[in-house]
Amino acid sequence: MSDFEHVFEQPPEGAAADWTIPQNWSAYTEVEHQTWNTLYERQMKILPGRACEAFMRGLDALDLNAGGIPDFEIINPKLQALTGWTVVCVPGLVPDEVFFDHLANRRFVSGQFIRKPDQLDYLQEPDIFHDVFGHVPMLTDPDFAAYMEAYGKGGQRAASLGMLPNLARLYWYTVEFGLMQEAGELRIYGAGIVSSATESVFSLEDPSPNRLGFDLERVMKTLYRIDDFQQVYFVIDSIEQLKRETLQDFGPIYDRLQGAEALPIEAVLPTDKVFTHGTQAYAAKGGRFAA
Ligand code: PHE
Ligand code: CO
Repeated sequence: MSDFEHVFEQPPEGAAADWTIPQNWSAYTEVEHQTWNTLYERQMKILPGRACEAFMRGLDALDLNAGGIPDFEIINPKLQALTGWTVVCVPGLVPDEVFFDHLANRRFVSGQFIRKPDQLDYLQEPDIFHDVFGHVPMLTDPDFAAYMEAYGKGGQRAASLGMLPNLARLYWYTVEFGLMQEAGELRIYGAGIVSSATESVFSLEDPSPNRLGFDLERVMKTLYRIDDFQQVYFVIDSIEQLKRETLQDFGPIYDRLQGAEALPIEAVLPTDKVFTHGTQAYAAKGGRFAA
């Protein structure tokens, strides 16, 4: 997950100039491997039929169920052969330009640590389960792989134009929390959803959130929350649609967005294609902070 914030200005001690650190796979403990397995098995009870085919295929192609935390030396040759992507470790959130530069070069950055056994359900910072289980399977899909590279390049441009908040919303509502139409129903492709047992069910089945058709410019105007289940999910027709729409030059869109007001998170507009007009009951009750 990236909300484009960072803690350090310079690579910390032990990190390379591009901010990467070794995965140091042999240093993971038995408890840490067991945490991966627990999370993996829990998701595998939930995701078949809910996660999109590209995600399920990617899990399989990379053999992420081999047992324990994946060793990047083993998954990277497979991923690279499929789409040219690799996954590298970083010590935490990295500066925007570092993040974009990795994406533009088909390198996905991952946390090295795994959550503690008492934090299985919620954590603030992305760990290796979120980053690898959640993000990496989709990178085996050629269209998604192309989208993510283009996003990295687009990030460099958006930064220079002061449009990063808008581009960050696109990332949030696609890469992290995207839904798609597939096989006559809604399916998950967002990494923030597939790596969460509770949101995997909530995002598709709860009556609370809005589910709206993906509209690039509308998404780039929509506020989002980082601390709870989403109040709105945007639905793409296909990964190919996502790639196609984001291939266009964003210059004219950025011009229009400059003066535009952000849209409230729960807005439903007359122009929206509505899959679900949510009750917003979950958010109204205080979400995960409810008494
Ligand atoms: N097409 C965008 C631009 O012209 C770049 C981009 C591609 C951004 C894909 C996000 C995702 O800036
Ligand atoms: Co993520």
